[in-house]
Amino acid sequence: MERIGILTSGGDSPGMNAGIRSLVRTGIYHGYQMMGIRAGFTGLLEGDIHYLDLASVADIIHRGGTILKTSRSQEFQTEEGQKKALDQLDKAKIHKLFVLGGDGSFHGAQALADKGIEVMALPCSIDNDLAYTDASIGFMTAVETITEAIGKIRDTSSSHERGHVIQVMGRKCGDLAIFAGMSGGAENILIPEVENSLKGILAKIHQGKKRGKRHHILLVTEGVYDPYQLAEEIYQGTGVETKVTILGYIQRGGSPTSFDRILASSLASRGLEYLIQGKTHHAMGFRGGEISCLPLEEALKEEKVFKEKLYQEIKMLSI
Ligand code: F6P
Repeated sequence: MERIGILTSGGDSPGMNAGIRSLVRTGIYHGYQMMGIRAGFTGLLEGDIHYLDLASVADIIHRGGTILKTSRSQEFQTEEGQKKALDQLDKAKIHKLFVLGGDGSFHGAQALADKGIEVMALPCSIDNDLAYTDASIGFMTAVETITEAIGKIRDTSSSHERGHVIQVMGRKCGDLAIFAGMSGGAENILIPEVENSLKGILAKIHQGKKRGKRHHILLVTEGVYDPYQLAEEIYQGTGVETKVTILGYIQRGGSPTSFDRILASSLASRGLEYLIQGKTHHAMGFRGGEISCLPLEEALKEEKVFKEKLYQEIKMLSI
C-alpha cells in the first residue's frame, strides 16, 4: 500500500485538525496508508512517524490546535537537516507528503520538493500573509476571536470613557487588524503596511472626543508600536486615559469557524486527489471564491497586495 505523510508546522491555526481529518479520510477512501509525522519538521528529523487510521481523526473537526503537534525547526533549515529528513522519509517509505503551515513551512515544503519528494502544501496561518490565497485556514477564526474581544473591551472602555490600545498578531501582515478592525468598528488601525504619525492618531482622538465618542479603540499589529508607550503618548497628547490589552495567543486557539472547517476540509480533500493524480509540488488555495491549486514555487513568489480600499473604508466609517 502506498503511503502519504502529513505534518503540521509553524504556528498552529484553527482548522488544521479539520484538514488532517479530511486528508486521512480521503486518503484511506482512495486506498492509501496515511502516516502522521509528529511535531512538524522536528518530528520528521527524529523519525517520529505513526499510522493514522479512520478512528484517529474522529472527533477533531471542531478542535483548535493540531493533534499532530507542531514546531519551528532550526535544524531542518540546514542542508544537513534536510538530508536527514529525506533519509527518514525514505526509511518510512513516504514519497508523498502534505505540509500544513504558513510561509516558513511552505519554504520547508519547497526544499523537500526540490529534493524529489512529491509535496502538496495547505495554507494554515492566522496571519493570512500568503499572497496567493485570499484566505488561509485559521485566519477567519482568529478574526472572529479578535472581533469578540474588541466588543468586550469596547463595553468597558465606553463605560469609563477611555481609550484602548489592542495589540494583535500578524507579524508583517496587517490583515488580522484590518479585518477585525472593520468587523469590530475600531477607530484606528495601525498596521505595518501604512506609516502612521502620532500627530494623526492624536488628531483623530481629539476629533472623536469633540463629536461625543465615549471610547477610542486602536488596533495595532505587533511590532508596529510599543503599545504601552503609545497609550502614554495618547494620554499626554489628549488627556484620554488609555489602557492596553495584548491579545496574544488567545488569537491562535479555539474551535474553528464553519468557514475554516469547510475551507480546510475542501482544500485537503481536493489536494489529496490532485496529488494521487500526479500533480505535485503544488499549493492549494482559495481565490475569488474558488479552490485554486498552483505550483508551490509560484505561490511563494507572489507578493501580498495591500487591501487599500478596505483600509480606506474603515477610516471613513470610523470618523
Ligand atoms: O505566524 C503566526 C504567529 O502567531 C504570528 O502572528 C506571531 O508573530 C508568531 O506566530 C508567534 O510565534 P511563536 O508561537 O513562535 O511565539
